[in-house]
Amino acid sequence: MTPRARSKTRAAKAWAGRIGAPTAPVVEAFTSSLAVDRRLYPHDVAGSVAHVHALVRARLVTRAEGARLERGLVAVKRELDAGRFRFLRSDEDIHMAIERRLTEMLGPLGGKLHTGRSRNDQVALDLRLWLRAECDGVDGALRRLQQALGRLARRHADVIMPGYTHLQRAQPILLAHHLLAHREMLARDRARFRGCRTRADELPLGAGALAGAGFPLDRRRVARELGFTRIAANSIDAVADRDVVAEFLAAAAITAVHLSRLAEEIVLWASDEFGFIELPDAFATGSSMMPQKKNPDVAELVRGKTGRVVGALVAVLTTLKGLPLAYDRDLQEDKPPLFDAADTLRQCLDVLAVMVPALRFRTDRMAAAADGLLLATDLADRLVERGVPFRRAHEIVGALVRHCLASGTALRDVDAAVLSAHSPVLTPALLRDLTPGGSVARRRVFGGTAPSEVRRQLARARREDGP
Ligand code: ARG
Repeated sequence: MTPRARSKTRAAKAWAGRIGAPTAPVVEAFTSSLAVDRRLYPHDVAGSVAHVHALVRARLVTRAEGARLERGLVAVKRELDAGRFRFLRSDEDIHMAIERRLTEMLGPLGGKLHTGRSRNDQVALDLRLWLRAECDGVDGALRRLQQALGRLARRHADVIMPGYTHLQRAQPILLAHHLLAHREMLARDRARFRGCRTRADELPLGAGALAGAGFPLDRRRVARELGFTRIAANSIDAVADRDVVAEFLAAAAITAVHLSRLAEEIVLWASDEFGFIELPDAFATGSSMMPQKKNPDVAELVRGKTGRVVGALVAVLTTLKGLPLAYDRDLQEDKPPLFDAADTLRQCLDVLAVMVPALRFRTDRMAAAADGLLLATDLADRLVERGVPFRRAHEIVGALVRHCLASGTALRDVDAAVLSAHSPVLTPALLRDLTPGGSVARRRVFGGTAPSEVRRQLARARREDGP
């Protein structure tokens, strides 16, 4: 989305008084951030309108002038909304483009807009307005994915599957319990974005270039008008700091890592080796060469895009590291990674929220994979109930498992003589009612995989996410 550049049309630079020669075209192209920051325009206009009101209250412009400036800003916004706005190659960023157009419309009055303001506090303001809205947007997208996971879990409340540690079959669990584990991660992600929003909710405008505006602008009124809870307490910090950007990206990176773990399980489970899910056709792609293939590209891309989001965090932290106070042009480099990471994260959340409900589980295969040696812990627990110390029980069952593997016998089919040779308390009766269902049912501790506990989790999910 490159701005419609008019190579022949140029406007004088805002600093043309001090810098005599026109900017070299290569410098203009190199320093421009318009292609990236033009999306800030609604926030830029909102901030400027609030600033006009402050100028009127401080009697720096008359009421009539204020009204004309405001109408002009609204007209510029209308052009931008409609895609009619003509950018010039000399427009360095969205802030300058809007002011340049306003001045074309209003004449010299347009030049009063920037009174008591610098692009340094202006861009800090736009960023915070954008971040506030984006945190809300991400929160909604996270909630939708949580809902999808919660609903899917509810539809599969009784399905048993193997739980894994080290990607080795460990113990039987409920599929719903597993899905709700992913939902929990997203709950923490939402809390992180809420925290970020709280930090973003602070007005930088009035900081000027760094020392504070040179006019008595009522920052409290401006904050109220723009819906900010707090006002940046230090004008230098207000223009120099970008930790709210880093914080957003940290929350985004953690979320992306969570999504990549979910995506990885979809990839694994869709493989023939696992065979736990059937990918919905609408979310799979074929191979251009191998006719039998059905590939989980969507999940793979979600997993892969995590690299971009994590990279964005590293890019911003690296840009900030060692920057002297206050504003440095380096800070302009915050926006490409910020916007790219936010867009990428939203795409991933949105595609998963529609793909997750379409997953088809092969519950027979999952249940079959949850039987057998996964019940070894349960057998050891039975021995403990009969007075055997757990360490000893672990040893006995371990030896029995070795016997099963060497002789190709299922745990439930080991004969009485072999059992009693391993331990006097081991009987066929003890083994017979060892089942995956019995195993999950025992795990009634708070947060465990027992159906009663998982139902409680499901009820909480429903309360929190809605139906
Ligand atoms: N476009 C710039 C940015 O994104 C704001 C311009 C401030 N420029 C300056 N030389 N003070 O940070």
